[in-house]
Amino acid sequence: MSIQIAPSILAADFANLQSEVELLNQSQADYIHVDIMDGVFVPNISFGIPVTEAIYRHAKKPLDVHLMIINPDLYLEAFRNAGASVISVHLEACAHLHRSLQTIRSLGAKTGVTLNPHTSVSGLEDSIEDIDIVCLMSVNPGFGGQKFIENTYSKITRLKELILSKNAKTLIEVDGGVNLENAPRIKEAGADILVAGSFVFNSVDPIKTIADLKVI
Ligand code: DX5
Ligand code: ZN
Repeated sequence: MSIQIAPSILAADFANLQSEVELLNQSQADYIHVDIMDGVFVPNISFGIPVTEAIYRHAKKPLDVHLMIINPDLYLEAFRNAGASVISVHLEACAHLHRSLQTIRSLGAKTGVTLNPHTSVSGLEDSIEDIDIVCLMSVNPGFGGQKFIENTYSKITRLKELILSKNAKTLIEVDGGVNLENAPRIKEAGADILVAGSFVFNSVDPIKTIADLKVI
């Protein structure tokens, strides 16, 4: 299966959100990655529910909502109602991950769990079968445009081994610092979905950049 691409709208021009979403609609993107930052879990604030709704109104691609927020349980339903197809919570923000995943599933969304760079994949041993997508942060979350952390390659491999050992169908997503140089190695290590923000939106031709990432 060819790799899936989830361009991060965080790197788009927020003053022209509609046309940026329309650009992604025309591209080979598989998802629109939506980064929600609360200024507490991460040292930055992005945008919230009304902006997610506005993106959804124009989107022809499913929204992959990455919640970088504390107490995500309080907002799962609101983000589902705002159009999220995938809702990804941070393991580090969930005291009761099993319950959070059950809630996401009961809302009819795909379940996602994101791990910070320092968090071991072994923390997912007892929940991997309940997770549709594990997102590995390959930068410290909070900002676009950072450098890819090299340790991610071996982490992808370890996560893949865990998934296979449990016979799970979980997909692996990699988020942060992805570009055409490192994408082939990320794919080779076992990733299924690539998030790319600045590399796509800062390029001269984002539609072509997405197409190039798709055929690595
Ligand atoms: C970082 C976000 C990422 C980010 C990716 O906190 O979760 O999704 O937007 O941006 P780039 O591709 O620029 O690293
Ligand atoms: Zn993200």
